Amino acid sequence: MIQVRQTEASACGSSHPHESARAQVQGLAPYVDDLPEPRGTLYAAPIMSPVAHGSLRGINAAAAMAHPGVRAIVTAADIPGDPVLATFVHDEPVFAREKVEYAGQVIGLVVADSVQAARHAARQVVLDIEPLPAILTIPQAMAAQSFVLPKVTVARGDAAAGIRTAPHRLKGSFAVGGQEHFYLEGQIALAVPQEQGQWLVHSSTQHPGEVQHWVAHALGIASHAVRVECRRMGGGFGGKETQAGHLAVWSALAALKVKAPVKLRLDRDDDFQITGKRHPFAYDYEVGFDGEGRILGFRLDMMANCGFSADLSGPVADRAVFHADNAYFLSDVEINSYRCKTHLQSHTAFRGFGGPQGVIAIETVVGDIARHLGCDALDVRMVNLYAPWLAVGEGAAAVPPRDTTPYRMKVEDNILHDLIPELERMSRYRVRQQEVALWNAQHKTIKRGLAITPVKFGISFTATLFNQAGALVHVYTDGSVQVNHGGTEMGQGLHTKVAQVVADELGVPLGRVLVTSSDTSKVPNASATAASSGTDLNGKAAQAAARTVRDNLAAFVAGLDDCGAGAVEFAHGRIISPKTSRAFEDVVSQAYANRIQLWSDGFYRTPKIHYDKQTLTGRPFFYFAYGAACSEVAIDTRTGESRVLAVDILHDVGRSINPAIDIGQIEGGFIQGMGWLTTEELVWNEKGVLATKAPSTYKIPTAADVPPHFAVHLWPEANPEDTVFNSKAVGEPPFMLAISVWEAVRNAVAAAREEAGSDARAMVCMSAPATAEKVLSAMR
Ligand code: MTE
Ligand code: HPA
Ligand code: MOS
Repeated sequence: MIQVRQTEASACGSSHPHESARAQVQGLAPYVDDLPEPRGTLYAAPIMSPVAHGSLRGINAAAAMAHPGVRAIVTAADIPGDPVLATFVHDEPVFAREKVEYAGQVIGLVVADSVQAARHAARQVVLDIEPLPAILTIPQAMAAQSFVLPKVTVARGDAAAGIRTAPHRLKGSFAVGGQEHFYLEGQIALAVPQEQGQWLVHSSTQHPGEVQHWVAHALGIASHAVRVECRRMGGGFGGKETQAGHLAVWSALAALKVKAPVKLRLDRDDDFQITGKRHPFAYDYEVGFDGEGRILGFRLDMMANCGFSADLSGPVADRAVFHADNAYFLSDVEINSYRCKTHLQSHTAFRGFGGPQGVIAIETVVGDIARHLGCDALDVRMVNLYAPWLAVGEGAAAVPPRDTTPYRMKVEDNILHDLIPELERMSRYRVRQQEVALWNAQHKTIKRGLAITPVKFGISFTATLFNQAGALVHVYTDGSVQVNHGGTEMGQGLHTKVAQVVADELGVPLGRVLVTSSDTSKVPNASATAASSGTDLNGKAAQAAARTVRDNLAAFVAGLDDCGAGAVEFAHGRIISPKTSRAFEDVVSQAYANRIQLWSDGFYRTPKIHYDKQTLTGRPFFYFAYGAACSEVAIDTRTGESRVLAVDILHDVGRSINPAIDIGQIEGGFIQGMGWLTTEELVWNEKGVLATKAPSTYKIPTAADVPPHFAVHLWPEANPEDTVFNSKAVGEPPFMLAISVWEAVRNAVAAAREEAGSDARAMVCMSAPATAEKVLSAMR
């Protein structure tokens, strides 16, 4: 077990409500659009390309300019700095210039006195575009060898030989769809010019530091002249990791031109059409395996539809490669990752960041193997799990440990050999498999399916440099505490957890600690709040800052009481030496009078991680988060409709800083994943125009879709790595637990096909999401 310093009265480990929960339900927690507008604020609306690919020959804005209330048209010609956004790959124009590369691409803005005037006028801008042939799908991009970035391969052993010599072999192809983020608060920015060429930008962003960098770059000014602030987002889900930056740059360029504050809030339909989504993926695989389903050779081609620019597609596709093993040891393996360029929105970060697209590949293959062999898929999953010991029975001494990933990271912390059997018991999996078989034998119309799938998710930014964080802790003379850190709050409870950590470090009640807006002028160069690492990074940085203040106070008290500083304790709002116990605030005011520093910065960098970008090998992750889910579904064989009936989850958050928030993350992540795999279908028409651009046609889960039985349990062990409170990151890993729904649906489809007379062992060929149409055609 892990030793922890605090034993009692700690804020960490308890289900404190989210710091904004009460204000949010009362409507008293402002988002960017709620902020009081500075005098003279004007409003912008985007001018969008109706064409997926074409030459932009002219923009006629005469009619738009004549519209009442219109103040200006802003285009690429108005950019004083670099007309190309300051992304890593530097391949994305701020506004489309000679060419347009997707339907929805922003060519410019209309700025007006009111939101409505700007939006009406934007539709009156006449664009002269000569259409060119557009590449829209992965097969088209592969045929044209159209890529945003070069192919990446990770290989070990001899995949071809492993497949060729195996007793059994399968080959298959399938695809998974993208996903719209559907944050409740749409994309927005408010750019406010300040004195002497300085800027304040209010942005709903996961990455204020990058917004600052992009705005400075486009305006051609230094970063120090741009301050970006974000108190909270109404959800980000990865969709505000880079995409928020575009709006900030656009509104700042508009504000520069009209010399007034400019707010740009996208209409929901426009948000759908302009911003990138989860990457759709297509797969070709070949696998060889033995009679128990143990994988002996595996080749996987993963093709990501990246859209028109690189954005985050490189790291997303990398993370898909890093998760194409999920929890399974692959001795002889070849994974090829293609990053396809198409004339669509530039697809971007979305919860799991390519991980889900990797995990679903191997889970689908394992499901195919189990059906082919006619054995229970859970047994196939168990024999393939990473295992440090020589567990292959007779002659085991000759078998090397099955504990290293295809990218050569040793899996040291695997708990799935204990966690999965525990879930199996809790969910009564074996009995219920029999009950499901009985149900399916007795019922013709409704078929059921049951599946357990595990998750092993790597925690850290795969780009090692982003795994750093900073924080500031201020103690005021009344003993109240203010914390600022580089992370952002998007509903996930980061600020609450960081406040809990700081409260415990100083031994004060949680109510004394306030976390303030993310602000580039307080903590510079902060990474995106992403990769689930917000608490791991910022919690540690804030803890370090609080520890410095505590050390200052301890030394001060040690001087007063003539004891060692190490003997001074901080608990229950008191500072206790072997001689005295004083109220925290009394020590603070006395320390202030003695000119002791009551505030500090703190910095953290994740230890142990490293990897080679060329070969994708090394230890990209500090540790893994684990979990497993058991899902039962029913499908209607007449309509193809499906419903999730029951879900049991056992998930590993290490030692939970806040169990209520963690369970909320698991529930939310699971339901969002369920939506991705069942009802959320993005449809682009043959011209590359997104046809599903509103909730009327794009169906996210509602409260009524939450399974009637939905039980979430936390795995009770601490993180063996030295993370804050020995907790584990929780934001993304549970998303992939929903792959159990996908496998349960495929099992139900297999049952329906068996009823209809087909071979139970035949492949279930289906692509995600498992919409009613897809389920129906998979049954036929
Ligand atoms: N939870 C809520 N309520 N809203 C969000 O936007 N984003 C998810 C996850 N949980 C999100 C969320 C994503 S994509 C990530 S990477 C993490 O939260 C980021 O926050 P963390 O690192 O603090 O967990
Ligand atoms: N996860 C999320 N966001 C990121 C990552 C990652 O691994 N790398 C760069 N941005
Ligand atoms: Mo999350 S996709 O890493 O923002």
